[in-house]
Amino acid sequence: MKEKLLSIKEAAMAALSAPDCDIEAIRVQYLGKKGELTAVLRGMGALTPEERPIIGQMANDVRAEIEEAIAKMGEAAKSALIEKKLREEKLDVTQPGIPVSVGHKHLLAKVQHDLEDIFIGMGFTIAEGPEVEYDYYNFQALNIPPDHPARDTQDTFYITDNILLRSQTSPVQARVMENTEPPIRIISPGRVYRSDAVDATHSPLFHQMEGLVVDKGITMGDLKGTLEIFARHLFGEDTKVRFRPHHFPFTEPSAEVDLSCFACGGKGCRLCKGEGWIEILGAGMVHPNVLRCCGIDPEVYSGFAFGLGVERAALLKYHIDDMRLLYENDVRFLSQF
Ligand code: PHE
Repeated sequence: MKEKLLSIKEAAMAALSAPDCDIEAIRVQYLGKKGELTAVLRGMGALTPEERPIIGQMANDVRAEIEEAIAKMGEAAKSALIEKKLREEKLDVTQPGIPVSVGHKHLLAKVQHDLEDIFIGMGFTIAEGPEVEYDYYNFQALNIPPDHPARDTQDTFYITDNILLRSQTSPVQARVMENTEPPIRIISPGRVYRSDAVDATHSPLFHQMEGLVVDKGITMGDLKGTLEIFARHLFGEDTKVRFRPHHFPFTEPSAEVDLSCFACGGKGCRLCKGEGWIEILGAGMVHPNVLRCCGIDPEVYSGFAFGLGVERAALLKYHIDDMRLLYENDVRFLSQF
């Protein structure tokens, strides 16, 4: 029986030393329930009581040795696998990367941010207000009572009789004045709505930027100076500003503001339709009724306000002749800017 055990051990070791041997199959063959070692142990009954512990001990030793060899092989196989992976999955960090195409700001966002930057540079802060607005802030607080004809030019979408989609960013003026002690110096950019059909210069949704300054002793001169600085920043050092008398219910006096055409310098061209001037915004001195309505004493304070269309500024600055291009999101168009 000793010889049988020794030969099992040798055969198992030999099998394990073969390259690419199947470790699990060897384990089953020698150590499994129906394996060779188990068969020997079953035959122990035939041994004498003296022989039994000696052979028993020997059989255990053989089992332990084969088990140890198998465990070692397992370890070796594992580390060989890791080494193989390390070899095969080597990463060359010096290879050039795969370029990722990064987008950029939409032209409209870029122009809006440029406009914001100009006014932030003059000490303005940004104020925001709701797009779904009360009739009160959009019209009444701005000196536009229910039957005022100005409502016709700013027809919008109504949620209820009293709630609408704001037709201008001017309601933010009223909201800010209502809860801010002057001095006030804000701009409020944002979406506005009007029930206009879509064409090259109209859209039911567009963007405006409102400006408001209220303090003691603010004059039309401050308005002019502010808008001149703005115009030069946006369209170049030589840009001139012209005020034309106009009417807005919430400012008095009111003006439409033209810039000298930055394409022809004022001589007259296609962009300015031969005029030499381009209308860019509406402005004026805040009407005393509006100040009073918002809790500011017009005997103590005065202010100016202005508003411009962000789309219009973008179209002019980048010589685009159709507003719809800004909303179609065609990257062939947008990637040019
Ligand atoms: N909110 C006006 C409009 O949409 C523009 C404006 C703003 C005019 C502020 C004067 C002062 O027509």
